[in-house]
Amino acid sequence: MKILIVNGSHRKGNTYRFVSNLLDLLTENGHTVDVLNLLEKRFDICDGCLICEDTGKCVIEDCFSNDIVPKLIDADAYVFAMPIYFNSVPALFKNFIDRTNSLCSYFEENTKKLAVFLVGQLEEDEGSFASVLRYLGEYSEIMGFERTEKDICVTAREPDEFFINNDIKDIVKTWF
Ligand SMILES: Cc1cc2nc3c(=O)[nH]c(=O)nc-3n(C[C@H](O)[C@H](O)[C@H](O)COP(=O)(O)O)c2cc1C
Repeated sequence: MKILIVNGSHRKGNTYRFVSNLLDLLTENGHTVDVLNLLEKRFDICDGCLICEDTGKCVIEDCFSNDIVPKLIDADAYVFAMPIYFNSVPALFKNFIDRTNSLCSYFEENTKKLAVFLVGQLEEDEGSFASVLRYLGEYSEIMGFERTEKDICVTAREPDEFFINNDIKDIVKTWF
């Protein structure tokens, strides 16, 4: 399977550490894996023109339109990996989501699989994970993605706190 990992973190921290491990695990399992670190890609915010809803194409000529859209089309599955910011997704990732409005009609015809990794400093029962999962679930329904059965949600604050363990590896094994 061709898998695109989208890293929505604004720093080289826990999400980055998970993504490095995931890249190795998925590659070992025979998948072709590409990593998109949004931090390394500067693209404009959606200007809200809605022209893409008529044309299927974004009017902004930048690396989102030219590099990221082809990667999204080429992949069979995605992993969205990110930290939680104020019970929501980080700004970089929100902009990524908004720019995918140009792909709505493409996704109507094409089903992609989606797995999610979230990291936040608060414990799971404090609601941050639930609100982001609900948000991504709604986005995923709009885009017709097939969600994996299990998500990975971990608690960490400092950038080097995350370590992969067997429970996480077991969930990854069920993803693709
Ligand atoms: C602006 C900002 C807002 C945050 N809001 C939340 C939050 O609502 N809930 C939470 O659990 N953690 C929150 N955090 C903590 C981060 O999710 C946490 O530090 C995480 O480990 C960062 O992941 P990273 O190292 O991959 O960037 C916030 C961090 C920042 C910078």
